[in-house]
Amino acid sequence: MPKWLQDAVFYEIYPQSFCDSNGDGIGDLPGITGKLDYIKDLGCNAIWLNPCFDSPFRDAGYDVRDYRRVAPRYGTNEDLAELFRQAHARGIHVLLDLVPGHTSEEHPWFRASQRAEPNAYSNRYIWTDRWCLPEAGLPFVAGESEREATYIINFFKCQPALNYGFLHPQAPWQLPTDHPDCIATREAMKDVMRFWLARGCDGFRVDMAASLVKNDDDQKTGTSAVWRDVRAMLDAEYPEAALVAEWSCPQLAIPAGFHCDFYLNSEDEGFGSLMHDYERHSDGTDESYFRRDAKADILSFLPAYCADYWATKGKGYISLITCNHDTRRPRNNLTPEELKLAYAVLFTLPGVPFLYYGDEIGMRYRQLPSLEGGYFRTGSRTPMQWTAGKNLGFSQAPLEQLYLPVDPSPDAPTVEAQQADEASLLHTVKDLLALRHAHPDLAADGEFSVAFAQRGHRLFAYRRGALVLAVNPGAARESCPLPGCWQPLYTIGRVNAAGGALTLDGPAFAVLAPCTE
Ligand code: BGC
Repeated sequence: MPKWLQDAVFYEIYPQSFCDSNGDGIGDLPGITGKLDYIKDLGCNAIWLNPCFDSPFRDAGYDVRDYRRVAPRYGTNEDLAELFRQAHARGIHVLLDLVPGHTSEEHPWFRASQRAEPNAYSNRYIWTDRWCLPEAGLPFVAGESEREATYIINFFKCQPALNYGFLHPQAPWQLPTDHPDCIATREAMKDVMRFWLARGCDGFRVDMAASLVKNDDDQKTGTSAVWRDVRAMLDAEYPEAALVAEWSCPQLAIPAGFHCDFYLNSEDEGFGSLMHDYERHSDGTDESYFRRDAKADILSFLPAYCADYWATKGKGYISLITCNHDTRRPRNNLTPEELKLAYAVLFTLPGVPFLYYGDEIGMRYRQLPSLEGGYFRTGSRTPMQWTAGKNLGFSQAPLEQLYLPVDPSPDAPTVEAQQADEASLLHTVKDLLALRHAHPDLAADGEFSVAFAQRGHRLFAYRRGALVLAVNPGAARESCPLPGCWQPLYTIGRVNAAGGALTLDGPAFAVLAPCTE
């Protein structure tokens, strides 16, 4: 387990939209390097960079054409190596995004694989043995290749699935996972990892980590075996490199070899109930836990979280996210004041938290036409808002050249304005992250237990080591028993710990330490 993860707080950067250093309207690597001091000052000591590799960008770079080459629009391989160096000089680790399940249809491996003539790449992708036949319930594309076969895709049409084999092959074209051509795919991906690790990257966020072996079982036996093999390589060659899964099932991802697994902010996870209520009621009410006007208690989230926490404790970490490039921003349905409480909890629960760029100032989700396969996700991918100046400080390019339009609202939040305002969301984020770094009890592996969580109660209290933390997102006053003498380390709103009870006159949040005398 890389030791640095214990104190890691990640900042996710969508490179298109963070900082344009050369005035061409799109973000780039030198732009990110120029903002490392900002990231450090915020309290983040690790970065997850969305794919920055050569690509036709039909899925924002998740359609990789060359795993070993930085996309020219972001800079050069040397710019990326310089980003690693400058980040390391500031104590910041950098994860790249590994897309192992598929490539772009323009990847040379796939172009070779499409050829009628058998070659070294014929089995690099999953091909049926007929030119037109829907097979085994897997999504396929026909009619595009000289080879008399159809191929399986992993996500969009432009993303043919790499071949890691089938758990239980049921047709001659379904190769077993130990077929030499499936092993070759796995080895090729390890070589991609080695390529960037040797140049200074600190590990990978792994895209669609559960998707590799086809017709896998519920326990993901086949895919997990692939990842354990990859992890063995890392342990032997790069033991400080981190592997973070986009899996959203820590009880499978951690035993499969990942150090962390994201909880995705989606409807099929209890986590979604904290920030986004996907079952919005017909009367328009939103029962997300952190909404001040909701009636929700923490119990839509907590039992599943605790089950995952206890099952993976000591073996790996759960990663809670403010949101990511695939979800609506939390500002979509939470106010900046509600976000303060939401972040306070996300940043003080166990595990390794991730902050998506711009969420620290409460950037808005915007309704925008789809760009680069973004669909609804496009609205969470708009340029970072730095200053009140031209293009909100993102780029010197003319407005019409921007990758996506900046938020035109007169009250668009900016870093500049919030830095000058002690009461801002940005300041709260900085205070919370500073508190987290100052107290080992709040580190990823600090002890955790539930102190108060009851059906129908908005108050949620928990212990981290010697500390007691509590949140009450509602407007009403709520209390829970708290024997002993406690002093506040950090509070938002009205908090009182005395007489054997902890009272949060909501909305409020508290971190309490035992009295010292
Ligand atoms: C990424 C998405 C991408 C998809 C296909 C994901 O889960 O986060 O942005 O579209 O995988 O690669």
